[in-house]
Amino acid sequence: MQPLPPSPVHFEHLTDGLGIGTGTPRLSWTPAAGSGDQHAYEVEIERPGHTHRTGRVSGADHVLVAWPAEPLTSRERAVVRVRTWSESDDEPSAWSEPGTVEAGLLAPTDWSAVPVGAAWDEDPAAERRPARVRKHFRADDRPIARARLYITAHGLYEAEINGTRVGDEALAPGWTVYPHRLRYRTHDVTALLAPGANTIGAWLGDGWYRGTYGFDGGTRNIYGTDQSLIAQLEITHTDGTTTVIATDHTWQAAVGPILTSGLYEGEVFDARLDDPHWATPAASPDGWTPVRAGTRNPGALVAPQGPPVRCTEEIPPGTITRTPDGRHLLDFGQNLVGRLRVTADGPVGTTLTFRHAEVLQDDELATRPLREAHSTDTLVLPGGGPYVWEPRFTLHGFRYAEITGWPGDLDPQDVTARVYHTDMRRTGWFECSDPMVNRLHENVLWSMRGNFVDIPTDCPQRDERLGWTGDIQVFAPTASFLYDCVGMLDSWLTDVGLEQLPDGTIPWYVPVIPGEPMWTPIRPGAAWGDVATLTPWALYQRFGDLELLRRHYPMGRAWVDLVEKLAGPDRLWDTGFQLGDWLDPAAPPEDPAAGRTDRYLVATAYYAHSTRHLARAARELGDTGDAARYDTLAEEITTAFRRRYVRADGRLTSDSPTAYALALAFDLLDAGRRQTAGDRLAALVDQDDARIATGFVGTPLICDALTDTGHLDTAYRLLLQTQCPSWLYPVTMGATTIWERWDSLRPDGTLNPGGMTSFNHYALGAVADWLHRVVGGIEVVAPGARTLAFRPRPGGGITWARTRYETPHGTASLFWETTPDGMKAEITVPPNCTALVELPGRQPSRLATGTHTLGPTASSEK
Ligand code: BGC
Repeated sequence: MQPLPPSPVHFEHLTDGLGIGTGTPRLSWTPAAGSGDQHAYEVEIERPGHTHRTGRVSGADHVLVAWPAEPLTSRERAVVRVRTWSESDDEPSAWSEPGTVEAGLLAPTDWSAVPVGAAWDEDPAAERRPARVRKHFRADDRPIARARLYITAHGLYEAEINGTRVGDEALAPGWTVYPHRLRYRTHDVTALLAPGANTIGAWLGDGWYRGTYGFDGGTRNIYGTDQSLIAQLEITHTDGTTTVIATDHTWQAAVGPILTSGLYEGEVFDARLDDPHWATPAASPDGWTPVRAGTRNPGALVAPQGPPVRCTEEIPPGTITRTPDGRHLLDFGQNLVGRLRVTADGPVGTTLTFRHAEVLQDDELATRPLREAHSTDTLVLPGGGPYVWEPRFTLHGFRYAEITGWPGDLDPQDVTARVYHTDMRRTGWFECSDPMVNRLHENVLWSMRGNFVDIPTDCPQRDERLGWTGDIQVFAPTASFLYDCVGMLDSWLTDVGLEQLPDGTIPWYVPVIPGEPMWTPIRPGAAWGDVATLTPWALYQRFGDLELLRRHYPMGRAWVDLVEKLAGPDRLWDTGFQLGDWLDPAAPPEDPAAGRTDRYLVATAYYAHSTRHLARAARELGDTGDAARYDTLAEEITTAFRRRYVRADGRLTSDSPTAYALALAFDLLDAGRRQTAGDRLAALVDQDDARIATGFVGTPLICDALTDTGHLDTAYRLLLQTQCPSWLYPVTMGATTIWERWDSLRPDGTLNPGGMTSFNHYALGAVADWLHRVVGGIEVVAPGARTLAFRPRPGGGITWARTRYETPHGTASLFWETTPDGMKAEITVPPNCTALVELPGRQPSRLATGTHTLGPTASSEK
């Protein structure tokens, strides 16, 4: 029988190859499960006019394999298949299913579209009513072979052709450093066009481009004052000729039913003004006036590297209660990020108001944590029957919603919470015998979903929602196990590089917007700035993309070089502003940076860690000069750390859990002192009765530091503690996401009075990485998951765990269970992957690709 085919080829880090931004997309596939290791492959590329085959190429490569043919030109399409040989086969596998790739507009000269928007007078200092733009046009009589829409905006857009929405993405084009990079997307719109008369139109919103957002009531017009569409519809006829309809001065603009719209604000929509035919040839011309055409450097228009934001789930209300004054209070049972879709029926002019919140206090929405984000949507009904509506250019973080003005009783079927985030492919799962730990893991997952909205944000609900660098720095290892987030984070890291200051300073949050005095002017800070070195490395470990490491390497080097200057010859970074172990539970509410750990100890520890990672990256990239230089520097920093922060008796100058966790997890102590430090850490944890005493910096590291020094039991005690502060305390309080503070909701049920009280912040959820590696037992030990360790370390009374991880090579999984005779395990090793296995009570061994059952007494292989 012919061996099974590998998976279809995919291109770069995209699931959809349409509109790709390179002429030489790298190819990835996974060998068929159970097919054995791949030893050779052949790629076939079929493109207009000819078919190219590589012939049999020896090797195990199947992740990000270089494009093996002439580069694609703009708009060129190719169909790619692959077949593989495994060791045992002289016969190749069947060909994979074809994968299709199509280049986007690769050269600035491909663009004729210019930004078009309202020509009427707008007061840039005031709230402005969003516009819609459109154009009627005739499609040529020649039959259409294909049509593509290349589209983006200054602001946000939602396009329609002949009354049908184009695509399903939300908040397009997302948020990048717009002057340098504005992403366009490519849509196949062939099926939307009709012979003869056609209309293309777009709704526009302010979004991040000119909307009001940020600190202290927000800033408007951060990137510009216009709100414009940039679109190029290219129709290719069967005879090979093309018709191009691009945004230009011939388009028209008018206001629509959206009266106001803001990311934080919410949307006001007057459905009495809604004409469903506005983007069809039958639309009324009333109120439409010529657009103002602007300019835009087409060189800054880039194709996306990851998936768009989409609705990924719909959640019905769990309970609906009625307040004495007639409002409806809805509980969706899950803190989420998205918006409501309603079907409402009432007399013309009926006004419905929707407010959102993450928590209740005294049976009312608690909106104080939202600060100045109003998160309120308003719908004015048109009358005449049920009206379906969802706001377009806003998102809210909420579990509860309040509806005022709903006519009559609310049928649960008429309201749905729609969940939105970057539509990444799920790759990691974890479950164990302890339901509370499972809920904790579920909460981490939901906080990732809520904050991976085009960029990785700190929180999704209050007047902030920024790409805080420290938060994702600590969370990236967890994130890159749970979801294929490499395309999205690679794109964001490009923006981090663009926003890096000339001296190497990494901003606190990216994209940069005006901040409070604490954040402006921008100063370098440890743990946050280290995103420049540590996050490209974390992604490289999981996804094996050496080019990504190469592209971001200069950013990391500039960061380390800056810190080297700041630290000076004594190699101690002990000056300047630092956030330290942010949100240590012992820090006073008014100064979350003032925890029990010396902030300069944190800074020097990170300096050493980043420098070591930079050396590692240099080695992977073949830069032996840099590797040696940064290795030496890392050694010097480590020595300086020991001299300055380790006392003669082996204790650290900050006798705090975070200090020991850092020193151990970052390997800063000499071998003789490690055990003393581990024992001291365990003693401190015990002293506190295994309640958490760490903030953003210590929390992701403490369980590893305990595990690696023989204190696994203490790590489990920390994990399983339910008293505040602890990971499970929020679970006991009904949390469905990870909170910003250990006590965002206090044991007496009241809100933490601090100005930052988010209920959806993934940073402290970084412990899930330890769950996957230590409790679940699957760990990546060589870049690109080429080597995996299957090494569960059970404890805490947990009797089984089931972990699955879709690696670039295919599925890895581990199920273990303790039995009276020892541990029983079932392990699946993906092809082309070295698997080291270490089960308690058994000799370490290696396993070949395939599924293996390892009993306490007998072993077998499937
Ligand atoms: C954000 C954080 C961030 C921190 C930095 C907060 O306002 O929500 O998560 O990392 O500021 O100090």
